[in-house]
Amino acid sequence: MKGIIMAAGKGTRLEPMTKAINKHLLPVYDKPMIFYPLSILMLCKIKEVLIIVNPGEKESFYKLLGDGLQYGIKIEYAVQEKPNGIGQAFIVGGDFIGKSSCALILGDNIFYRDSIQSLLSKSVRNLSGATIFAYHVSDPKRFGIVNFDKKDKPISIEEKPKKPKSSYAVPGLYFYDNSVIDIAKKIKPSSRGEYEITDINKYYLSQGKLDVKVLSKGSVWLDTGTINSLMQANQYVQVVEERQGRKIGC
Ligand code: DAU
Repeated sequence: MKGIIMAAGKGTRLEPMTKAINKHLLPVYDKPMIFYPLSILMLCKIKEVLIIVNPGEKESFYKLLGDGLQYGIKIEYAVQEKPNGIGQAFIVGGDFIGKSSCALILGDNIFYRDSIQSLLSKSVRNLSGATIFAYHVSDPKRFGIVNFDKKDKPISIEEKPKKPKSSYAVPGLYFYDNSVIDIAKKIKPSSRGEYEITDINKYYLSQGKLDVKVLSKGSVWLDTGTINSLMQANQYVQVVEERQGRKIGC
């Protein structure tokens, strides 16, 4: 399996901090944001990672992470010319994925829980179609939202619904088989003009090939896309690291 980190986008909700610096290079407590998603892919035992960045930004990411040799992995970089949506990961990264399956993680997502490694390796090992996760949130209008039937089977997924049918958000960590490349070519831009990852997930759902794993209460999923969520992530990492004397995302 190969891994892609989406680290492009304008970061408009964090301006002016993101006017001159890519959001994913900003600190989350004691390390750059990109360390957190990268370490999740490494916990999946993925050895080949593609980081997708904006035009003109490869150099600064390379300065930080190089070719990955120091971490025992191989890191490549690709450019998304315009921030046209997360669904473009598989168009920009099509050659990189080749004939493999692929994990996609959003560069501003932070995951932390006990035994995360076993959860991830199960997702990688038993992959057939696509595997995504669901996480109970207080503000479902901000996310992709998955709704379940009475038997906990996923029945719908909507991107930032005005009237959410559930409080289960889809976090930015997705596992796909190789058909994701063809599916990504089929989807059309949404009403907000983006190639939505939710449309790719919807396609797998319509084919009966979408596995949704609900993350337990003890799991922590944070995104850092707004000033408040970034602040909370900083504080969370500080509290846990200082208390435990152990690092997160390192
Ligand atoms: O955080 C999880 C949510 O992420 C999901 O629940 C939603 O379904 C999904 O659409 C996404 O929503 P956001 O509104 O949070 O996405 P955002 O535009 O903030 O971008 C998320 C990350 O992807 C961010 O690190 C920047 C990167 N990105 C985004 C776009 C639109 C790119 O690299 N290229 C892009 O074109």
